[in-house]
Amino acid sequence: MAHRPVTDDLHYELYPYPPRDPRKESGERISGSPSDLDELVHFCFGGRLDFGRPLRALIAGGGTGDALVMLAEGCKRAGLPAEITYLDVSQASRTIAEGRARARGLSGLTFISGSLLEVGELAPGPYDYIDCCGVLHHMEDPAAGLAALVGVLAPGGGLGLMLYAPYGRTGVYPLQSALRRLVADLPPQDKVAMARRLVEGLPPTNWFARNEILGDHKQSDAGLYDLLLHARDRAFTVAEVETLMAGAGLVVTAFLPPLRYDPALYVAEPRLKARLARLHTEDRPALAEELAGDIKAHAFYAVRMEDAERAVARPDDPQMVPVLRDLDGPAFARSFRPGQAVTASFAGKTHRFPLPPLAGAMLARIDGTRDLGTIHAELAADRSDLDWPAFHRQFATLFATLNGLGKLHLRLRRP
Ligand SMILES: C[S@@+](CC[C@H](N)C(=O)[O-])C[C@H]1O[C@@H](n2cnc3c(N)ncnc32)[C@H](O)[C@@H]1O
Repeated sequence: MAHRPVTDDLHYELYPYPPRDPRKESGERISGSPSDLDELVHFCFGGRLDFGRPLRALIAGGGTGDALVMLAEGCKRAGLPAEITYLDVSQASRTIAEGRARARGLSGLTFISGSLLEVGELAPGPYDYIDCCGVLHHMEDPAAGLAALVGVLAPGGGLGLMLYAPYGRTGVYPLQSALRRLVADLPPQDKVAMARRLVEGLPPTNWFARNEILGDHKQSDAGLYDLLLHARDRAFTVAEVETLMAGAGLVVTAFLPPLRYDPALYVAEPRLKARLARLHTEDRPALAEELAGDIKAHAFYAVRMEDAERAVARPDDPQMVPVLRDLDGPAFARSFRPGQAVTASFAGKTHRFPLPPLAGAMLARIDGTRDLGTIHAELAADRSDLDWPAFHRQFATLFATLNGLGKLHLRLRRP
């Protein structure tokens, strides 16, 4: 008997992604990038949290609701009124996202079924912020999808996006092609079973078998389907992301986390380091991607070219309030010893990031309410030589590391 071919639409009806179950919704805080509230305010709105009205946001291709829940709860915690619209072609995904929102007691959300290509008619907005993760790379014409989103982006608005990246997905595309040849005519469940067998029996030289950073296919059938059996999927290098954005009049304000896109992490030899230091800032993320080899998706923020100058918050304004993410500043400060460094792993190597002498005293005061001027005044009270430039030099070092790791952002206090 002929079965219905698995189109893009049917795929997410059968295997909503990522797999989530509203009955098991624990209320646990969701943390991720993009669409963490402090992060998006930092990288799209120059730290300005006050929109003079509720934040208007669109979650385009919202799937099973991770970004929706994260942003809605982030706004609730911050006391920021928000109007958030969810849009997806998949009814099954929408049902799960709605169930999760209900289980968490989130209200005031709007759910719409349909394609983001029709967003101008279905949900014209406009929106201050648009999340679109893991969607455009599945579209026949990603540029058309992006143009539709930019068409409903308010002046001064920002986008948080995620697109697949090629090098970390080494081995995926030959295997997708092989599976198309081998099992295209089977019903979806049989395709999944056969794909599992194929993966289990791959020779050790196969690039997919050698690629240890891919794990989605081990977690669930939905993960396997999304990774290996998708009807359409392509990956973008950093340069291709930038070209796609430029075509829509946009510019990337940050790839996330920013330090991962610093090629200096992947170059040890001093003469090469010196050559690297002479590279243009805008060429650095592409080089980092080429050297790291483990980037399988790019998460990033983008704004219109004319808004780029003031989109990213800077640590040189005393009115900026530093905010930690998933870190308790005072608790971190208590465990902190002078001269201590922060360590973080990138591309399979652990790196040490030395912190300035006043890091502990600063962290102890980073509570999401004190601004930099206040923190400086408190520290200067018993350090007569700590003028603003001296304070700022040390804060800038702390900021470069923690912001680079996605752990520290800046925002202005709401009036
Ligand atoms: C890989 S899932 C990602 C879900 C979610 N954004 C996330 O990151 O967790 C892709 C989602 O995009 C939706 N989608 C695909 N094409 C779409 C389109 N043209 N308009 C709206 N949604 C679409 C699918 O139904 C699916 O739920």
